[in-house]
Amino acid sequence: MKTWQSRIKGGSSSLFEDFTSSVHQDQRLAPYDVMVSVAHARALSRASVIKPDEAEQLVSALTEIGEEIRSGSFTWRDELEDVHSHVEARLQEKVGDLGGALHAGRSRNDQIAADLRLYVKDASLSALGAILALQHAFLELGRRYQDALIPSYTHLQQAQPVLIAQPLLAHVSMLGRDWERLRDGLARTDRSPLGSGAVAGSGYPLDRAFLAQQAGFSTVIENATDAVSDRDFLVEFVSCCALCMTHLSRFAEDLILWSTQEFGFVKLPDAFASGSSMMPQKKNPDVAELVRGKAALVIGDLTGILSLIKSLPLAYNRDLQEDKTPLFHAADTLLAALEICTAMVAELEFDPQRTEASISSFSLATDLADYLVSKGMPFRRAHSTVAELVAECLERGRALTDLSAVELETASPLFSAMPRPTSRTSVKRKQTAGSTGPEQIEAQLQAALQLLTDREAETKRLSPAQ
Ligand code: ARG
Repeated sequence: MKTWQSRIKGGSSSLFEDFTSSVHQDQRLAPYDVMVSVAHARALSRASVIKPDEAEQLVSALTEIGEEIRSGSFTWRDELEDVHSHVEARLQEKVGDLGGALHAGRSRNDQIAADLRLYVKDASLSALGAILALQHAFLELGRRYQDALIPSYTHLQQAQPVLIAQPLLAHVSMLGRDWERLRDGLARTDRSPLGSGAVAGSGYPLDRAFLAQQAGFSTVIENATDAVSDRDFLVEFVSCCALCMTHLSRFAEDLILWSTQEFGFVKLPDAFASGSSMMPQKKNPDVAELVRGKAALVIGDLTGILSLIKSLPLAYNRDLQEDKTPLFHAADTLLAALEICTAMVAELEFDPQRTEASISSFSLATDLADYLVSKGMPFRRAHSTVAELVAECLERGRALTDLSAVELETASPLFSAMPRPTSRTSVKRKQTAGSTGPEQIEAQLQAALQLLTDREAETKRLSPAQ
């Protein structure tokens, strides 16, 4: 029997039931729905709507239901439309009519908003932990190849030599901001809609701060109408997921490129690569490609949730039920992608000889120009002097580093005492904070590690005590 059956007589069409049911989507919210119900039972007792011993009976029956859900013995029935109806029906089986007393002063509208917020809190904490793990893996990889050189690219054209740790630290930085955004979003998600009822609040003297605290929220969302109708916390969370996936897709792209035969910079671990059913020689970077592909779908999840909310009249509308599919998809995809990237990064093997040998002599052109500047030439003129040399070399098929002292001095007498630049000297010259100079790389690695340690502690603090 549906909770609203007395109003809508005559039974529902099975088409209606299939089309409107959300049991399959919101089953995973069941543990949160139980928490929210426990809080409500206690708040009703505090407001003297039910007696303290009745509240106790409800709480212990709900605790049993929570156990049934955890152990998998809970029976899900297609005819009960959503997770709330399931918990309520089971409660009535256990405590009879008293089970029906629990719904005074609340609605499925404030319940679902609370369930979702509790779920997003947990999902954010899992993502926070997973981001830190991946950052760790990147830092360890950077340490392992701390002295190794690699070309850097702009426009996918070789730019300047860098240490391998430099691009890896770039990915660590991106992930660090993803971590911050998720943590910042948590503060706005961690607010309780409980006590808002369907839209207007409740006539029972429910203590909303008490309800919030009992359900595990830090604070309360003030306006009842807003509390049941907005899903901006989902937009924030899913946009964090989309952005983090986008960042992962950029790393994935680097990996795809670096592992090609043409680049040959990195060897993918066998455990994370596939072969071809036809071409015996192939080793394909499937994980990286799928991370890149899945990022597209998580961007779609964000668009989906924004579109659901756009132009929706106040307050709750059933459209909002559709928020779960993109939410769960985004959260699950991000977590899986972070986990597999972490495992893969831990096993990546660079070929430092190859990466260094791949650095084109022309990557040192800026160093030549900088040398002229150090001898007093204005940079613009130095730039064009070296550009002429580059053009000449390219025309004659020579490397920039093959030019003789005479040739260099013909271009500019200021070159006369120049020590021959190499990829290593080029890197060593970099001294700005965050640059690829060896001392700066060391500083970046140390700072990143310290930040990780602090953030691990912060994640622990934010997590509910087990
Ligand atoms: N299944 C609904 C959802 O996910 C729960 C709230 C339903 N409220 C209602 N008035 N029908 O949004």
